[in-house]
Amino acid sequence: MSLQTRVIDEFQQQFGETPQFIIRAPGRVNLIGEHTDYNDGFVLPMAIDRAVWLAIRPRTDNRVYVTSTAIDTPTDFTLDNLENEGQHHWSEYLKGVTWALQEAGHKLNGWEGVLASDVPVGAGLSSSAAIEMATARAFTAVTPDLAWDPPTMALLGQKAENQWVGANTGIMDQMISAAGEQNHALFIDCRDLSTKSIPLPAGTAVVIMDSATRHTHVDSGYNTRREQCETAASFFAVSHLRDVTTAQFESKSAELEATHDNEVMRRARHVITENERVLQAIAAMQAGDATTMGRLMNESHKSMDQDFEITNEQLNVLAQLAQAQEGCFGARMTGGGFGGCAVALVAADQATDFATAVSQAYDQQTNLQSSIYICQATAGAAILGD
Ligand code: GLA
Repeated sequence: MSLQTRVIDEFQQQFGETPQFIIRAPGRVNLIGEHTDYNDGFVLPMAIDRAVWLAIRPRTDNRVYVTSTAIDTPTDFTLDNLENEGQHHWSEYLKGVTWALQEAGHKLNGWEGVLASDVPVGAGLSSSAAIEMATARAFTAVTPDLAWDPPTMALLGQKAENQWVGANTGIMDQMISAAGEQNHALFIDCRDLSTKSIPLPAGTAVVIMDSATRHTHVDSGYNTRREQCETAASFFAVSHLRDVTTAQFESKSAELEATHDNEVMRRARHVITENERVLQAIAAMQAGDATTMGRLMNESHKSMDQDFEITNEQLNVLAQLAQAQEGCFGARMTGGGFGGCAVALVAADQATDFATAVSQAYDQQTNLQSSIYICQATAGAAILGD
């Protein structure tokens, strides 16, 4: 049964009628450009065919009541009395977005319904941004004068994540969940939030490989990485590392290391070279050059392993196994890191064999159980039938 059917059925059982709105907000996989977003840099994610679904109806009072197909405790709060329970629980993403929308001056209406998701949690596929964008979409469905504008809603979702949940994340995940395009990756300039749709090279498939290891951004090294980037930016006397070229970096990297430390130097090197790789990746994708795109993905992985140090042993195994398979153009860890998924660009006609070979080899080598799937690029958050 599809998740769409599932939320509709559950809604009918619980509320005794058909839902008024069906909302879908996708997770994402990032093809290249990691930890560049909060450095005002470039990213190239795509929205995937794994998503958060909501079946809802408006309420006449100011309550939001949502049950989940996966979790027993419902989310239940009133709009004028939001309490942060401080736990890393899915309801805090809903409350956080509600809070951010109200902070922006919106007068919201209440709603109720059922939520279901097949975006794995903590896997680097943006399960939280998908909940945030689904929530924002739900409010636009029930609040007549609240318009849906992807960058505005993405920024409010990020504010919820940063200030309500306490994860100091960038804008990429919310932007792609809000603004994704079917059959395309999306180039996002995280400084001005301008976007450009980039088609996948003909004859290629994007394969997501879940290492079965997990992270949370609240207590992983994510926030530390961000602080190190800020330290490096102030060394270069710029607001963000986006403004440092490779040549500028090279001429001052020894001084950066001497005045700070080797780690800060390597963090900066990752971000600065990664931004360049994204720009080269765009050119390669537009030219249909899967070989160059794959090489850039491999280089990106190496940089995340050696300079940014956000991979783990399992992700390194997964990337290496994938890179060595026939038909694979390139593979890298994807998302915030410290666990989760890797992504590969593979010849479409070899993708199924690729998936079988990598999962067998990985499971044998690590005693973990990977899940590997060929994914499609989908559209961003939407009210179905809209
Ligand atoms: C997480 C964050 C994003 C981004 C990535 C790393 O997914 O939510 O903002 O920083 O990590 O690229």
